[in-house]
Amino acid sequence: MKTLVIVGSQWGDEGKGKVTDFLAQKADVVVRSQGGNNAGHTILFNGQKFALRSIPSGIFNPRIKNIMANGMVIHPKQMLEELHGLEERGITKYQLFISNRAHIVLPYHEALDGAFEQFKKDKKIGTTKRGIGPAYADKANRIGIRIADFIEPCVFKEVLKQTLEIKNMELKMLGLEQFDFDCIYNEYLEYASEIKKYVCDTSLLLEEEINKESKILFEGAQGVMLCLDHGTYPYVTSSSPTGASVPVNSGIAPRYIQDVLGICKAYTTRVGEGPFPTEIDGDIATYIREKGHEYGTVTKRPRRVGYLDCVVLNHARRVAGINHMALMLFDVLSGIENLKICYAYELDGKIIHSVPASEYEYSRVKPIYLEMPGWQEDISNVRSFEDLPVNAQNYLKKIEELTHIKISLFSVGPDRNQTIVLEELL
Ligand code: IMP
Repeated sequence: MKTLVIVGSQWGDEGKGKVTDFLAQKADVVVRSQGGNNAGHTILFNGQKFALRSIPSGIFNPRIKNIMANGMVIHPKQMLEELHGLEERGITKYQLFISNRAHIVLPYHEALDGAFEQFKKDKKIGTTKRGIGPAYADKANRIGIRIADFIEPCVFKEVLKQTLEIKNMELKMLGLEQFDFDCIYNEYLEYASEIKKYVCDTSLLLEEEINKESKILFEGAQGVMLCLDHGTYPYVTSSSPTGASVPVNSGIAPRYIQDVLGICKAYTTRVGEGPFPTEIDGDIATYIREKGHEYGTVTKRPRRVGYLDCVVLNHARRVAGINHMALMLFDVLSGIENLKICYAYELDGKIIHSVPASEYEYSRVKPIYLEMPGWQEDISNVRSFEDLPVNAQNYLKKIEELTHIKISLFSVGPDRNQTIVLEELL
């Protein structure tokens, strides 16, 4: 048995989909354990570009068992659209398993997500408006609807009736339009009957796979800085994308988590609001945004761009248990004369090396940089560490030194063959 957890070590969009797809070639099982269709994993397969939202990245390989685990919130309509979209593009032989303990996202969650954002005005989070926060809130409030109940028409009817009564009161209080029970029930009943064939107890399935000594890849969504507990609260998502969250979110024992691979870009990006100490504007930001296609997969928003922040990476290493790193989009930095890496912050005249908990403090920190000469050469055809320009080698080594994490692979382009493995992981 071998398990590997893939974790975004920044604010999401680090290239987790590409790494998962690459490592999935060796995996028997790929698991998505948290989040929902707020994620956007871009994968290039057979020359075609795919943007996965809630379906695990192993879906392209008929040999791989893909699990959507109990920690996810699943939007049945969008998930089926995603699946049909894949089928239309020739991905018809796949193995998909959906946890009967996962929760579903319904239209009122999306309506509330949008409304809360509007009410927050200049304090808005910048959510994907997919209803993720309200769905997790209902789960915690014990008025969520689980897949197991969703796929039993009579149970679904009863729980939806009860929940909708509460949700409609909430919507009314907020001055929002209420939802009609029959409309939701009849529409979602059809989705439920289609989804039913994929549903099982995925914890049991995982135990079987563990006993069979399978190779299991846990595909994280979002990133540590968006973690509900360890991210830049309140500008975070509503689940925990760390290595530690995987056991509870997938129904396995913590002792089965072996390695945690942090995925980081060679620079930093963030979508949505909230503190971002190394954010930059101007020519270099535009250069990186255009070259790195830094626009949201889900919402198409231009991503905020900044220099690499090793305080963030050290925070991610500690709270997410990262012991290997994948350095992504390395080729994007070619052509920048001077590069900066943040290794500490200044807060009210004091040097600090950790991420403050309070937004009041974090929004005031100033990054302290070391500067390094960049490289002009295009590195997208590089296939080994030795082939990298010396300045690129030094950049990579400096990150290892500042984060205390071994870089086990780096990526110089979107294709599978542009992934250079320095240490085998699975
Ligand atoms: P929510 O997850 O839609 O509630 O959004 C909360 C915050 O997380 C917002 O800043 C989103 O932009 C961000 N977010 C959620 N999912 C992703 C992702 O997959 N990549 C990057 N940011 C994300």
